[in-house]
Amino acid sequence: MSEGIVIRHYRPEDLPQLRLITVESFGGVALEQMLEERFGLLNGRSWRERKAEHIDEDCRQNSGGVFVAEKGGEILGYITTRLDPANGRGRIPNMAVIEKARGLGLGRRLIQHALDYFRQSGMKIAQIETMASNDVGQYLYPSCGFQEIARQVHYAMEL
Ligand SMILES: CC(C)(COP(=O)(O)OP(=O)(O)OC[C@H]1O[C@@H](n2cnc3c(N)ncnc32)[C@H](O)[C@@H]1OP(=O)(O)O)[C@@H](O)C(=O)NCCC(=O)NCCS
Repeated sequence: MSEGIVIRHYRPEDLPQLRLITVESFGGVALEQMLEERFGLLNGRSWRERKAEHIDEDCRQNSGGVFVAEKGGEILGYITTRLDPANGRGRIPNMAVIEKARGLGLGRRLIQHALDYFRQSGMKIAQIETMASNDVGQYLYPSCGFQEIARQVHYAMEL
């Protein structure tokens, strides 16, 4: 399954597929969904709409730092990145791998690709965040070399 998978640069025509992979992948791990579970639709809008917009924003802000894993024309996953050259810092806001391609090392490969991109771009530090409830993230990121720095608590209230 993992043979023949290539990681390539994002192309604008990938965006609808990346949005789809996002809404199919992030169920159970997205803060936006947790907000919806507590408060219902926000202004009539679903967590899926908001989460897909995060990917729109990543592609708008730094399309050259979005990488797509593909096999035989099928997109299996992606990773998005941002550069903060003033501070020599790269950040990975979002990544996902479709369910049938998980556990094959693709997430790890995408992270390594992003780290190479950061190094080539002169960055000295890489950052990534995950929810405390995301067991895969909490296993995968340290196993790629990330050190835990701090835990954040998200609060919200109805107005
Ligand atoms: C996170 C994600 C991208 C990882 O993709 P992947 O291709 O399966 O990742 P890999 O195969 O490289 O590695 C996954 C590792 O986690 C391990 N893992 C899987 N489920 C796990 C769990 N519930 N708890 C701990 N580790 C787990 C796998 O065994 C594997 O470990 P290994 O490399 O030592 O064999 C994918 O699970 C995903 O899309 N999740 C939903 C979206 C998401 O959470 N994105 C990240 C938001 S911070």
